[in-house]
Amino acid sequence: MIRPRAKAAGLLSLGVAAVALFSGCDLNENADTDKGRDLFIAKCGECHYLSEAGTTGNLGPDLDAAFAASRNAGMDQDTIEGVVTDQISHPRQTDPADPSYMPPDLVTGQDADDVAAYVASVAGVPGIEPPTVPGGPGGQVFASNGCGSCHTLAIAGSAGAVGPNLDEELPGQSKAEIEESIVDPNKVIVQGFQPNVMPSNYSTTIDQQEIKDLVDFLYENSGKTPKQ
Ligand code: HEC
Ligand code: HEC
Repeated sequence: MIRPRAKAAGLLSLGVAAVALFSGCDLNENADTDKGRDLFIAKCGECHYLSEAGTTGNLGPDLDAAFAASRNAGMDQDTIEGVVTDQISHPRQTDPADPSYMPPDLVTGQDADDVAAYVASVAGVPGIEPPTVPGGPGGQVFASNGCGSCHTLAIAGSAGAVGPNLDEELPGQSKAEIEESIVDPNKVIVQGFQPNVMPSNYSTTIDQQEIKDLVDFLYENSGKTPKQ
């Protein structure tokens, strides 16, 4: 494995490793950071705080804090990208029985490049904030947990089609029914869909107040055209 530190090596030692490293950088310049952001929210956000993504997981380190320190120490964006890529394929060893264990290869190939490029472009950048989303706090919870990657909801601007269209299905449901679908998705399976597709651990990864904000947001906004 090429350690990012290799970059700091003197000119004379530029060899095959360095060439591989530079071509890696070229590849990553084509990375799609929007896609990387969506993947980060879906695969990494439950464990990591990252302000631009709006994610608040705390099983793993706060990535803004981690990389603010690196930036202060003079680490550049390409190097941070390398550190993230390395951590994705070879996470620092923790015990698989530990609930915070980071599994290797949560994303691979181009997806891993996209995630690494996205994280490197935002983590620890002073003053960075998530783009404002419509719908107040509950709208932010919807955006930060990747619900839109599977569900269509006009106010959130999402067009996911893995799960039911929430604009069509939620009007007429009570808040209790909506909440149950979120915290216990396998209890009642919506007709035409499969069980075990929607993550079933939101009651542990999203705190109670945020679940309440999310339910209020869906109850009030599903089936309505967003107001400008
Ligand atoms: C199940 C929880 C979990 C998930 C999911 C997870 N991580 Fe981690 N991550 C951790 C933990 C725990 C550590 C700290 C490991 C250690 O250093 O002992 C960590 C460390 C890191 C670090 C190093 C931070 C530092 O302080 O240097 C980076 C970068 C990182 N993760 C990125 C990611 C990315 C990108 C994803 C998604 C592809 C991801 N993580 C998914 C738990 C997770
Ligand atoms: C990986 C895809 C996926 C993600 C991510 C996901 N869902 Fe789902 N969701 C589904 C599927 C599939 C169903 C239908 C099967 C079922 O009932 O469990 C569903 C069902 C639902 C329902 C019931 C809809 C109805 O017709 O009554 C609600 C409400 C819902 N999801 C909200 C959410 C919210 C809020 C989030 C984010 C916190 C979320 N989902 C994240 C796939 C997903």
